[in-house]
Amino acid sequence: MRKNIVAGNWKMNKTAKEAEELITALKPLVAKSKPEVVVCVPYTDLWTVAEAIKGSKIHLGAENVAWADKGAFTGEISAEMLKEIGVEYVIIGHSERRQYFGETNETVNKRTKQALANGLKPIVCVGETLEEREKGRTNRVLKKQILEGFEGITDFTNIVVAYEPVWAIGTGKTATAEDANKTIGYIRRTIKTNFGEEVAKALRIQYGGSMKPGNAKELMAERNIDGGLIGGAALKAEDFAAIVNYKD
Ligand code: 13P
Repeated sequence: MRKNIVAGNWKMNKTAKEAEELITALKPLVAKSKPEVVVCVPYTDLWTVAEAIKGSKIHLGAENVAWADKGAFTGEISAEMLKEIGVEYVIIGHSERRQYFGETNETVNKRTKQALANGLKPIVCVGETLEEREKGRTNRVLKKQILEGFEGITDFTNIVVAYEPVWAIGTGKTATAEDANKTIGYIRRTIKTNFGEEVAKALRIQYGGSMKPGNAKELMAERNIDGGLIGGAALKAEDFAAIVNYKD
């Protein structure tokens, strides 16, 4: 049995002060939640949020991690720096990083290995663009992202995959539950073929892309979907909590 995991990706939103307010509002709302709850927040919010979530079941995540241990990498943040704050999860290869900041399957692979080597849990994002989808290339793109992104990795215990169709991110367009389930099923089969049946069975795969209180239940009811990676709706305590508590 895979435990559902609902993670908020705050992206470039919330100052430290706003972050504290959001966590204070969120804490009581998710106190009895069944899924694992994670908030992935901007680097500048990490210390504040680490403090604010104390005594709750909320887990702390960052939105990226450097592939090197330390040194001349201006603007990057190392795994060791994150661990000192108490970070547990790191998002890797989000489509916005791929689109705007030159992230590739190769850098995703390096960051993922570095996270694992340092005991951080990567949430690795994959997904096709609208153009790729319309040209019928979805599976091919996903397969390449998976094979190259996870190249050389054998232990998937700490890995979470997020399937985020790029055309569904921040657009209000959601993949239908059936469609998302089918594509995540393809991801699971690809993992099975290349990394083994046990890995594929145990691996948690989230859906991400305009998940909201109104559609979370339907999406998460699907067999292959083990939670969500939430952008916009994670910025409001009530909305995020309603997604986390979709079963209630
Ligand atoms: P939205 O929920 O705003 O569509 O963002 C999804 C996302 O990119 C989460 O990583």
